[in-house]
Amino acid sequence: SDPLRLGIAGLGTVGAGVVKILEKRADLIAARAGRPVKVTAVSARTQGKDRGFDLSAYAWEDDPVRLAARDDVDLVVELVGGDNGPAKDTIEAAIAHGKDIVTANKAMLALHGQELAEAAEAKGLCLRFEAAVAGGIPCVKALTESLAGNRIERVMGVMNGTCNYILTRMEDAGLPYDTVFAEASALGYLEADPTLDVGGIDAGHKLALLASIAYGTRVDFEAVRLEGIERVSIADIRHASDMGFKVKLLGVARMTGRGLEARMSPCLVPAASPLGQLSGATNMVVLEGDAVGRIVLRGAGAGEGPTASAVLSDVIEIARGTRLSTFGQPAASLVKGTRAQSGSP
Ligand code: HSE
Repeated sequence: SDPLRLGIAGLGTVGAGVVKILEKRADLIAARAGRPVKVTAVSARTQGKDRGFDLSAYAWEDDPVRLAARDDVDLVVELVGGDNGPAKDTIEAAIAHGKDIVTANKAMLALHGQELAEAAEAKGLCLRFEAAVAGGIPCVKALTESLAGNRIERVMGVMNGTCNYILTRMEDAGLPYDTVFAEASALGYLEADPTLDVGGIDAGHKLALLASIAYGTRVDFEAVRLEGIERVSIADIRHASDMGFKVKLLGVARMTGRGLEARMSPCLVPAASPLGQLSGATNMVVLEGDAVGRIVLRGAGAGEGPTASAVLSDVIEIARGTRLSTFGQPAASLVKGTRAQSGSP
């Protein structure tokens, strides 16, 4: 059958990872997808750099918006990054030209996902984003597919590996926040704007997306109550530890009588619990459904292989012809305007 033709916008760690897996595992992916999946065109800021594969095998575009308009592209993989500018222009161009979209862009989706999803769905297009939440952990599909028969009672998680690294390293090495922050920076863990990590914003973006999927509400980042880890001290961590707790940057979303409540903040969790035992630059997503009970998913929330793995799950799903709606609901029945109330616990 006809191949699915991809245009990859952005060849950083994740984009290069996607191309490499598609080259190395072409047969396996074609078998899973029921048709060949091939990259036809790519775009990135610089053409000259060595990314571990032969760029000349693909058509090149300097501008991702032009990539999204190409006739030989069926699906645009948006890995440009940033919550506005070229990334948003690329997704809008893809929609205008009738292309499906796969993206890992959590900031973009948390801020503009609702409007982009509605625009895509109005044209019968798919916008999928497994990689945007907790990297390699398949939590989006867990909610939209595997747990579709449940009413979701609660969604929780550690969704920023950098913050989890900082908090566990402060405890294990007895080092102050500033020292460990510098370490995380040297290890390349921090986003270009570190406030996105340590201010809880990146994790808040991810929680806003998961909450909207779990409860069928509009994506509403502004309604997530946010507190970062900048003010967590060694003394806080020691006192918690003495009482059998760990400090985690934990996201919790649940539906209450007053609407959806979502918060991302430093929390105490029992040291012996799965969340308490999560150390290093790792993520954990805990899903509670009325039928299934509690599911705990643990894995890499960032990095080449894990994030590319999540991108490919969306690509293969679209190649199969599955037309899942973006936030797991028909666009027409998205619940409008359910927000967290101020002053709620
Ligand atoms: N800065 C993020 C993290 C990267 O540390 O988890 C993945 O979104």
